[in-house]
Amino acid sequence: MSHPKTILIHSVRKICGIDHPPYPLRLGKAMSFLQSIDDAYLLIENGTITDFGPMSNCAYENVDLHINAQDRFLLPAWVDSHTHIVFAKTREAEFVDRIKGLSYAEIAANGGGILNSARVLQETSFEDLYASAEQRLLEVQRKGTGTIEIKSGYGLSFDAEIKMLQVIKQLKRSHPAMNIHATFLGAHAIPLKYKENRQEYIRIITDEMLPYIADNQLANYCDVFCDEGFYTVKETDLILKKAASYGLKAKIHANELAVSGGVQVGIANSAISVDHLEEITEVEIDALKNSHTIPTLLPGTSFFLNIPYAPARKMIDSGLGIALATDYNPGSTPSGDMSFLLSLACLKMRLLPEEAINAVTINAAHALESQDLVGSIAIGKEAKLVLTKPIDSLARIPYSYGSSVIDFTILNDQIIKASDM
Ligand code: NIG
Ligand code: FE
Repeated sequence: MSHPKTILIHSVRKICGIDHPPYPLRLGKAMSFLQSIDDAYLLIENGTITDFGPMSNCAYENVDLHINAQDRFLLPAWVDSHTHIVFAKTREAEFVDRIKGLSYAEIAANGGGILNSARVLQETSFEDLYASAEQRLLEVQRKGTGTIEIKSGYGLSFDAEIKMLQVIKQLKRSHPAMNIHATFLGAHAIPLKYKENRQEYIRIITDEMLPYIADNQLANYCDVFCDEGFYTVKETDLILKKAASYGLKAKIHANELAVSGGVQVGIANSAISVDHLEEITEVEIDALKNSHTIPTLLPGTSFFLNIPYAPARKMIDSGLGIALATDYNPGSTPSGDMSFLLSLACLKMRLLPEEAINAVTINAAHALESQDLVGSIAIGKEAKLVLTKPIDSLARIPYSYGSSVIDFTILNDQIIKASDM
């Protein structure tokens, strides 16, 4: 890893994802357009994009580092707006149980799933949790992710939820070139101990966890798993309203297992995004169209749980702007690989490569309210970029599933090689 102050990336085959203020969310047809320049250069000074254009205009010589990007594509780094990368242990026994015929919901109802992860996490030290989360962070960085949201939600007690959020805070401190956002998801499941007294756990969330999180600035967002077998619409509404009173904006897990009402309660609470939406009807699509809430779809979850894919094509055709994220977590999506996500989006959701790339860059940046800083290539934005291997077309990125063509991730002044894996 080197730390040059000025970096000139020159002779780029194509720079894609060029943008201009106010960096709008791409809606409907606009999702299929990526502004680009052929045979181009881009200049980074002190971690910021300060210039780019066609090679014929490139007049820079005295720079600290020249990168010859001949035959390569340069794009904004991926923005993964929904992950759970702080966890104590993988859950492959449940994976095998699902192969044998149990459903995700059945495993959860039997005390597996999120409750299984919470039991182990409560027993795991801060140091061990930090070490494994940091490995996952470095792994996704090498695969092209430059901005990431990380949720708590495997603690399910005051101490363990705060421990998770402290791990995220420490990741932020130790990795300042990575854009990290923290989301409080204490309402991820009802702990076994409160199964017969849900109100008491919800009271702990609203009256004990939320004030502490706000006082210590441990999270930007509050999320609730509003779905069949988890939190009801009424409970979700109560938690999100209380979170808002502490300055935490809403995000929602909704409609993964059933049409839950989560979309509507999210919109009513001005949620920045509603995520999952594998089960959705026209009613929810219409409600989203009349809102500022961003539908965030997680095709990796559909792949791994063998459940329906969210109707992304229909949503885009109806004029919506969607974001895509990995949902990297030990239960439903044990992968943070954005290249594979792009393949799934194109193959299983019928998105064009350009639509899928907008969904994991500028639209995902909007889902983290970071569109002014990241998610596209513009003068003044942070230099969060991916440089591909030599390729002939943008479609090679989703086409080459399972063997990513991302070669380097650039995070401000850091240049990270994918094959360091
Ligand atoms: O987004 N659906 C809720 N939460 C996670 C999965 C949690 C787990 O199974 O550990 C998700 O899919
Ligand atoms: Fe999730």
